[in-house]
Amino acid sequence: MTLGPAPSFGAVIERAHIVICCGTGGVGKTTTAAVLAIEGARRGRNAVVVTIDPAKRLAQTLGLEALSDTAHEIDRDRWDPENDAAPDGRLSALMLDSKTTFDALVTRYAATPDQGERILENRFYRNVSGALGGTQEYMAMEKLHELHEDGDYDLIVVDTPPTRHALDFLDAPARLLRLLDNRIFRLLMMPTRSIVRVAGVAVQAFLRTISRVVGTEVIDDVVSFFRAFEGMEAGFRDRAAAVQRLIAGPTTAFVLVTSARREAVEEAAFFADRLQESGLSVAALAVNRVHPSFGTASPEGLRERVKTLDDAPGDAAARARLAQTYANLADFRTVAIHERHEIDQVRNRIGTAATAFVPYLARDVHDFGALRQVGTHLFAPPTGAG
Ligand SMILES: Nc1ncnc2c1ncn2[C@@H]1O[C@H](COP(=O)(O)OP(=O)(O)O)[C@@H](O)[C@H]1O
Ligand SMILES: [Mg+2]
Repeated sequence: MTLGPAPSFGAVIERAHIVICCGTGGVGKTTTAAVLAIEGARRGRNAVVVTIDPAKRLAQTLGLEALSDTAHEIDRDRWDPENDAAPDGRLSALMLDSKTTFDALVTRYAATPDQGERILENRFYRNVSGALGGTQEYMAMEKLHELHEDGDYDLIVVDTPPTRHALDFLDAPARLLRLLDNRIFRLLMMPTRSIVRVAGVAVQAFLRTISRVVGTEVIDDVVSFFRAFEGMEAGFRDRAAAVQRLIAGPTTAFVLVTSARREAVEEAAFFADRLQESGLSVAALAVNRVHPSFGTASPEGLRERVKTLDDAPGDAAARARLAQTYANLADFRTVAIHERHEIDQVRNRIGTAATAFVPYLARDVHDFGALRQVGTHLFAPPTGAG
């Protein structure tokens, strides 16, 4: 069972060993992951953030200009310029390069260096290892496992890939196992003659059709790719199972990130349900890029004011300006109420998990100053109604 619903974002980064930021594309996962790791470091933890495809300027801020698959530490003066963070805190970052991670995995599980090389040099592997469905998701989880095994970090914050479905990475280890269990995969691993002997007519027809479409050369590449994997499935299988256990462990916290847009909220709600079905739970919810909620007046009341101003005595121009201000305020309140109403869809599903609202900032979040600004909202004391 994962870390259950947390009372605050502060509790998440103080209690969790692993934090997984998930949500649909573009909602602010990468940003949130960076902010959580920084705040972890500020509170004295040895934190590392695994980012995936960060915006160029954010990558620069985190010192990730060159795609580097190993974590490196960020100078303290950069993330703690005021020098008011806990003295023991440390911050590191890495940018996931799923190809390199996959290569490392292959090398690790190859029975001999020669087998490893054969796979790495295989044309099919070179072309698809980065693009296979779920590879990036799996490699993110793989990297997480690696950092966990290294044992250096006490807080590992993981960003998740910009997939359409927020939950693809959850299935990734299982999908890899399914690939290894796949009948065609097994057939391809057999010596050629046995394939012909054992493979049913359907499979043979299938292979023939494929070779007609993509050329025999490709098929040969594919066949030798799978053959090269011979004997490695057990290693991969154990590893995938270990990754799955780690994801579901008691010190793993899921932070769900969403915007208030309907599609994002629906995806987040779906994801919360899926986690629950799998016996996992959402520790905290970040609602990013919300509109400000000015006061508590009802939009109807404000629009009423606009009307009464129309009939009020006094300077017409001044009244018109005031009326316009009330009308704007009414619009803002309408949007804010609407957004919070949308969000209830998710909140109803996550029990007592902390929810934080982060407003639309005037600029993209690319430097430590802006990241800190997002942090003040995530780590603000809960405001009750929100
Ligand atoms: N609260 C915010 N206000 C303004 N811009 C934001 C905010 N949160 C994120 N952004 C910007 O939106 C873009 C997408 O954010 P990102 O974290 O990369 O999303 P994701 O990883 O979910 O795709 C980035 O350019 C980021 O700087
Ligand atoms: Mg991202």
